[in-house]
Amino acid sequence: MKDVLKELKKRKDRARLSGGLKRLEAQHSKGKLSARERINVLADKGSFIEYDMFVEHRSTDFGMEKNKIPGDGVVTGNCKINGRPVLIYSQDFTAYGGSLSEAHAEKICKVMDQAMKLGVPIIGLNDSGGARIQEGVASLGGYAEVFQRNVLASGFIPQISLIMGPCAGGAVYSPAITDFIFMVQDSSYMFVTGPDVVKTVTHETVSAEELGGASSHTKKSGVADLSFEDDISVLEETRRLLDFLPLSNKEKAPYRLTQDPSDRKSFNLDTLIPHNSNSPYDMKELIITIIDEEDFFEIQPDYAQNIIIGFARISGQTIGIVANQPMVLAGCLDIDSSRKAARFVRFCDCFNIPIVTLVDVPGFLPGTSQEFNGIIKHGAKLLYAYAEATVPKITLITRKAYGGAYDVMASKHLRGDINYAWPTAEIAVMGAKGAVEIIFRGSDKKEIEKQTEEYQDKFANPFIAASRGYLDDIITPHNTRYRLSSALELLKTKELSNPKKKHGNIPL
Ligand code: HXC
Repeated sequence: MKDVLKELKKRKDRARLSGGLKRLEAQHSKGKLSARERINVLADKGSFIEYDMFVEHRSTDFGMEKNKIPGDGVVTGNCKINGRPVLIYSQDFTAYGGSLSEAHAEKICKVMDQAMKLGVPIIGLNDSGGARIQEGVASLGGYAEVFQRNVLASGFIPQISLIMGPCAGGAVYSPAITDFIFMVQDSSYMFVTGPDVVKTVTHETVSAEELGGASSHTKKSGVADLSFEDDISVLEETRRLLDFLPLSNKEKAPYRLTQDPSDRKSFNLDTLIPHNSNSPYDMKELIITIIDEEDFFEIQPDYAQNIIIGFARISGQTIGIVANQPMVLAGCLDIDSSRKAARFVRFCDCFNIPIVTLVDVPGFLPGTSQEFNGIIKHGAKLLYAYAEATVPKITLITRKAYGGAYDVMASKHLRGDINYAWPTAEIAVMGAKGAVEIIFRGSDKKEIEKQTEEYQDKFANPFIAASRGYLDDIITPHNTRYRLSSALELLKTKELSNPKKKHGNIPL
């Protein structure tokens, strides 16, 4: 027995050594942790249970039969994060550059299947040179097996991708299907084709960092949701995100006890809206004021900043917040903000997270660039997402709600459950000046001014919408937290379902 135990220990030690100390040092010298060190930060202490540490590749080409590293470049298993179960895989760059072989893919698929069976989230830590070059098509098949599972898991369990090194070629499509992508600044990148191929095909000279680094993907492409300065921060923030989410679509998000009273009044909100209705104000001040303990987990803060999305809690209950930001493009909806918010609304709807929408929107952004790039289809995504969502939907119009954007932003007509406005709300087909210039085209300047004033008085308020029942109430700003908290409490028992169908055909 003693000998067997000794042998087991020897084999486990060998597997834990993976690609060896030299490669581990190389990993550390790039400011990166190893696959196992990362798991130690992500998981609750002592909770990680590893699977498949003795798995080896089956390749015999290019002398690979003599080059076997137990574990085959990925560490997989289950663990707990703040006491709740999660399945994880963590690619090990010290073994074959974390490249994906058939066996490596099978290990990932096994934890994905396990996560699906158990109904718990899966987190993938990506640090890989891509397809295992020595294996060819077997590796491509492995990727496709992963993609297929990503798709089936979508909307069933939360899927989170952490990009902590290279992620290139077709490998990017697994993270792309998952719900959230976090990147590490300066040590991770994602692209379909790298700088060398770009140079050959388009003659552009671009660095890997510029082409697919964290900054490009959080600011320009919107592919990544957030970036953090090092491995530790990305792992800690992933733990924080997970606390807002349910384990699967069969559950509600966890309740978090709070000391923040639900009827806390916030008199700063009574003066948040500037006198001049064209002056901006910071919508984040409203968000931070009404949520529990100012704890806001913003998603995509650096992309399409004219809309704000993220998770928070009110009276302990997780909510998804969607809010126009008057500080950027006056809070207009455009292509990027519509796509950003639409995907978030759908995530919340998949996972039973009530949506609180804060509206101050002057309309859709005009221009040829928007029209030629398909604002019609992209704007429709947000409309579709809200209209399809059956989770509790609470809407508060703080100021402008003009035109089609009024309809889109979780209006009563799209099955908003509770729709409120502040007394400062302006709900109309369009702004007074634009409207009068159309109705009174050809009139002199004085007449236009007079009519503009009249239009402003008549329509720039919430009372007409309220008189039709499109708003359930007009509330005082300082009471907003209490009113939202009460609405969320009421809607806990909401039941609503859409007609039975295979799936809708969202305008992609
Ligand atoms: C096998 C690989 C590998 C790969 C890296 N390695 N990538 N082994 N298959 N894809 C090995 C290296 O041989 C090396 O082994 C070790 O990993 C570390 O690699 P280095 O090159 O020394 O590291 P670094 O300088 O940091 O460069 C990392 C890298 C580079 C930029 C990722 O290794 C690289 O360009 N790799 C190839 C990337 C690639 O073309 N992949 C295929 C893409 S196509 P030793 O033994 O020396 O430590 C693809 C299609 C997917 O992925 C399609 C899915 C549908």
